Amino acid sequence: MIKWEEIKQEVLHDIEEADSKEVIDKLKVDVLGKKGMMAGFMQQMKTLSPEEKREFGQKVNELKKLFESTFSARMEELIEKAMLEKMKKEAIDITLPGARPYNGSLHPLNLVQQEIEDIFISMGYSVVEGPEVELDFYNFERANIPQGHPARDMQDTFYIDSERLLRTHTTAIQTRTLEALHDKLPIKVICPGKVYRRDDDDATHSHQFVQMEGLVVAENITLSDLKGTLELLARKMFGDSRTIRLRPSYFQFTEPSVEVDVSCHICGGKGCPVCKGTGWIEILGAGMVHPNVLEMAGIDSKKYTGFAFGVGVERVAMLKYGIDDIRNFYINDIRFLKAFTRFE
Ligand code: DAH
Repeated sequence: MIKWEEIKQEVLHDIEEADSKEVIDKLKVDVLGKKGMMAGFMQQMKTLSPEEKREFGQKVNELKKLFESTFSARMEELIEKAMLEKMKKEAIDITLPGARPYNGSLHPLNLVQQEIEDIFISMGYSVVEGPEVELDFYNFERANIPQGHPARDMQDTFYIDSERLLRTHTTAIQTRTLEALHDKLPIKVICPGKVYRRDDDDATHSHQFVQMEGLVVAENITLSDLKGTLELLARKMFGDSRTIRLRPSYFQFTEPSVEVDVSCHICGGKGCPVCKGTGWIEILGAGMVHPNVLEMAGIDSKKYTGFAFGVGVERVAMLKYGIDDIRNFYINDIRFLKAFTRFE
C-alpha cells in the first residue's frame, strides 16, 4: 500500500520550503522528472491488475497535476520575491535634493540691447547691422564729416589702411542703410553694433563699446516725431514718470542737432550724485538727418525728411543697473555677470 497522503504532504512541504529557483528546479526533477518519483510510480503501475491500475493511475495523475501547479505557483512567488528584493536594493531616494545645474544669463549689454530692440520692433522698426571694419566713406564721408575734420584724426580712430577703419559710430550703418534703401522709403530701422575709438580705458571710457542708431526717413517727419519717440524710449527704459529735454548741439550729420537728457530716475529730478545735482542725465545725441546726408544717398531732401539718434548701450546699462565702472562689462568677472540672471 502506498501512502498517497503522506507523499502528497511531504512533497508540498518540500516545495513550500524551497527558497530558490535552483532548489525548486532540482526538486522538480526529483518529483516530476523522467527518472523522478512520479515516473517511478508509472513504472510500478505496469505490474498491477486493470482495476488497481485505474485507481492507481488516477491517484498518480491527480498528484502530478497538483505538484505541477504547486511548483509553478511557488516559482512565481520566488520570482516576485527576487524582483522586490532587487527593487528595494536598487531604490533611488528621490527625496534627496539634486545638484542644480548653473544657468547662465545674458550679458547685461545684450539685455539692454534686446530691450531697446524690442521697444523699436514693437513700433514697426527693423533691425539692421553693418560691418565693424568699415570704409572711411560710410563712417565719415557719407556722414558729412569732411576730410580734415578732427574726428578723422589718427588719434581718435583706429585705421586699418587709408580707406578702411574700425567704425567709430553706428552712424556708418545709417549711411549704408540710406544708400541701400534710398528708393524703398519709408525707412524705419534700429542699428546695434560695436564701435571703436582710440580712447584710454578708464571708469567711463572704453576703446570699444556698443551703440544703437535709430533712423526714420519718410515724408513729413519732424523734430516732434523724434521727441515723442525718444520720450517713449526713456519711459520704457527708466520708468513711466520720466520726461526728456532737448538741448541744442552739433553733429555734422544732423541739422538741427540735439543732445537729449532724461529726468533722473534716481532722485526724480531733485538732484543727486548720479545726476550731479542737476536732475537731468544726458543719454544720447540726435537730430534731423542733414539734407546733405540724404542727398548723398540719393534721397530727395525736399520731399523727404528724417530723424536719427545714437544711444550708448553701456551708458544706458550703467544708469539702469547702477554700475559705476564701464570696465565691468568687459572683464568677465563671473560674480558681476551672475547678478543679471534675475533680469531675464
Ligand atoms: N554718432 C554720434 C556719436 O557717436 C551719435 C549720434 C548723434 C548719432 C546724433 C546720430 C545722431 O544718429 O543723429 O557720438
